[in-house]
Amino acid sequence: MKSIVIMGSTGSIGTNTLDIVERFPEEFRVVGLTAGNNDEMLAEQIRRFHPLAVAMPTESGAARLKQRCGGQPVEILSGPEGLAAVASLPEAELVVSAIVGGAGLVPTLAAIRSKKHIALANKEPMVMAGQLMQEEARRQGVRIFPVDSEHSAIFQSLEGHRIKDVRRLILTASGGALWNVPKEQLQDVTPERALQHPNWKMGAKITIDSATLMNKGLEVVEARWLFDIPESRIDVLIHRESIIHSLVEYEDRSMISQLGLPDMRTPISYALRYPDRLPLDLPSLDLTEIGTLTFCKPDHDRFPCLRLGYESLRIGGTMPAAMNAANEIAVDAFLNGGIRFTDISDIIQSTMQTHVPQAVRSLEAALEADRWAREKADSLVHALAR
Ligand SMILES: NC(=O)c1ccc[n+]([C@@H]2O[C@H](COP(=O)([O-])OP(=O)(O)OC[C@H]3O[C@@H](n4cnc5c(N)ncnc54)[C@H](OP(=O)(O)O)[C@@H]3O)[C@@H](O)[C@H]2O)c1
Repeated sequence: MKSIVIMGSTGSIGTNTLDIVERFPEEFRVVGLTAGNNDEMLAEQIRRFHPLAVAMPTESGAARLKQRCGGQPVEILSGPEGLAAVASLPEAELVVSAIVGGAGLVPTLAAIRSKKHIALANKEPMVMAGQLMQEEARRQGVRIFPVDSEHSAIFQSLEGHRIKDVRRLILTASGGALWNVPKEQLQDVTPERALQHPNWKMGAKITIDSATLMNKGLEVVEARWLFDIPESRIDVLIHRESIIHSLVEYEDRSMISQLGLPDMRTPISYALRYPDRLPLDLPSLDLTEIGTLTFCKPDHDRFPCLRLGYESLRIGGTMPAAMNAANEIAVDAFLNGGIRFTDISDIIQSTMQTHVPQAVRSLEAALEADRWAREKADSLVHALAR
């Protein structure tokens, strides 16, 4: 039985992970959970899964949770130290990192430093400090298993092969909710419209990232550090149906890929139970029913965020962290009705243009770039605010 902590247990990845735990009670024991703001759902999860400890980022959240959980044998912690303590629980073997955004960096690094294997959904920490996280994982002798469906597909397509034989990685992208919207109409797109993802049901931030293609920009950076491949050998292919989850091209021009219906429980279960495959009772992919798979190139003119992802890697240092922070601020402002859809990429680009990148030799360097870029992007949002 594997003892796990789920960070971000109230989110889309978190609840899908708990669905797997419920299906295979003999395989997993939940020893820790963390949430953001949703004390009601976390209280329900405590009743169902009996973790030893849980944490919320604010004291007020933890206080509400204590009221809901009176008398239950669970330690309730709060603040960044509380999240890090749950991520480092001595009983845990693997930590599912599924907080959204840069808020996951400190607790994920704490988990690695406490010698926990990581099932990584939370891509933003890899974007902010990928090299640092990988170096730390190597030092501690732990592995970072990808949960993102594209990176899981690449991970699976690399199994039994040598990285030196890889010619390039090809990340597939659905294109998001706005793929067919003409450029001149993008500025009038509402959050409700941009949240209508064609294939995946995910949290709001990643759904907007999919619509801007920033999600793919973040994934290029994530792939660079997860697989130690330079960005010049990472390509992106639009594949509307989200059936081929990504591909690896080898030097002999063979391509190997992983296919499946879009359901995050497949990559989550692989990361949880690697190298075993759990017998998930999900619908099979019927290619005769699907009939046709389509592919095309990304449109960098309508969706500049993907290009910014590549650019951040070429510049290097803290630039990806600054890009990520600006994106978080801009997406939040768009979701709250403060700016237009097309302002998101403008804000990220302007933030990157004024950022002076430093080497990411420490966690503090990544956090300082994050702090600086949030402030900068926030001032740009205010200047644009409607
Ligand atoms: N959803 C997917 O299919 C998918 C696929 C690939 C990768 N990912 C990645 O996985 C991560 C999670 O995505 P998601 O779609 O599951 O997001 P989500 O549904 O929005 O869930 C986010 C989780 O993080 C918690 N949280 C938010 N802010 C926090 C903070 N400041 N401190 C601590 N916890 C906080 C939320 O808590 P509350 O809800 O309690 O506020 C929730 O549990 C993202 O990095 C995303 O890019 C997701």
